Amino acid sequence: MTHRVLVAGASGYIGRHVVEALLQRNYHVVAQLRAGAQWRLAHPKLECVYGELTESEQFLRDIEPCDLVISCLASRSGGARDARLVEYDANNRLLAVALKWGVQRFLLLSAICVQKPRLAFQKEKLRFEATLRESNLPWTIIRPTAFFKSLSGQIVRLKQGKPFFIFGNGTLTACKPIAEQDLATFMVEQLTHASAIGAILPIGGPGPAITPLGQAQLLGQLMQQPVKTRSLPPRLFLIAAAVLSPFGLVFSRARDQAEFLRIAHFYATESMLVWSEEAEAYSEGLTPESGSKTLSECYEQMIKGGVVSELGEHKLF
Ligand SMILES: NC(=O)c1ccc[n+]([C@@H]2O[C@H](COP(=O)([O-])OP(=O)(O)OC[C@H]3O[C@@H](n4cnc5c(N)ncnc54)[C@H](OP(=O)(O)O)[C@@H]3O)[C@@H](O)[C@H]2O)c1
Repeated sequence: MTHRVLVAGASGYIGRHVVEALLQRNYHVVAQLRAGAQWRLAHPKLECVYGELTESEQFLRDIEPCDLVISCLASRSGGARDARLVEYDANNRLLAVALKWGVQRFLLLSAICVQKPRLAFQKEKLRFEATLRESNLPWTIIRPTAFFKSLSGQIVRLKQGKPFFIFGNGTLTACKPIAEQDLATFMVEQLTHASAIGAILPIGGPGPAITPLGQAQLLGQLMQQPVKTRSLPPRLFLIAAAVLSPFGLVFSRARDQAEFLRIAHFYATESMLVWSEEAEAYSEGLTPESGSKTLSECYEQMIKGGVVSELGEHKLF
């Protein structure tokens, strides 16, 4: 039997790869896209459905039921209001439809950073995780570490001869980054693993863990040029957020800006690895690995092939 899988957030960085991984495995894919989304992809087993999940789920109630649901929805800004609308409300609407359909699995793409929920988007993600866990559906929650795209933003600067920004000495944080295709494959594989039902699965790419200083050194080796680093104190973000906060009481834009600064501080100071309660520290060893593509291979491709093409529009097939 061919499964019908609804992918919400299909146009996202991971969502697109999940669609691709599903089609390669012969699933029938229903891609949920925002009204008016420009996404040119045709495949005999792909159906697109357009609508605003932050407003209503009626457009999903009108389609033929699916037996699996994957949510790759995510707030693009991380601002408090957007996080509530997308991370909680839209996912909650999706869950209502999934409950009506009685799906065999609701698979949620979350994030490893929810282990220490300080930011609005993390709290909304956790709030939905809790709602999903309390539902009667078979669920799986995936909490990945950093994506390659999150560690690639400074290549353009280096190509222009500019320094690589690090925080503190560049070893305050570490992660085991995972390639988008490898994460998508891992997610799709969980649909057929009974052991993944009712499981929260943190996942990284092939180790070892790498620090921001390690990323700068790796890029230097691959570009065969000395890479200068410039250190910033992470507390700068908190100072700027504190300055903006009083304005946030009146202006929503200032409130969002302050939140973005707190997000920057979080990523400058917290590792994207599994937190060990016992050791009271992040643990590389406890962070599971999947996939085969390394950050070094990704950087090499981006240096040779041009950064923009790698980060820009994704082409399927
Ligand atoms: N970046 C990292 O290193 C990292 C690491 C671990 C986990 N994560 C988590 O992984 C998840 C997915 O990340 P990603 O990079 O694939 O996200 P992304 O590229 O930003 O995609 C977000 C998806 O959600 C949709 N969406 C956003 N706002 C919406 C709205 N108001 N209404 C309806 N749909 C909306 C987007 O649609 P449009 O295309 O129409 O905007 C898109 O399909 C996130 O939960 C993120 O926190 C990220």
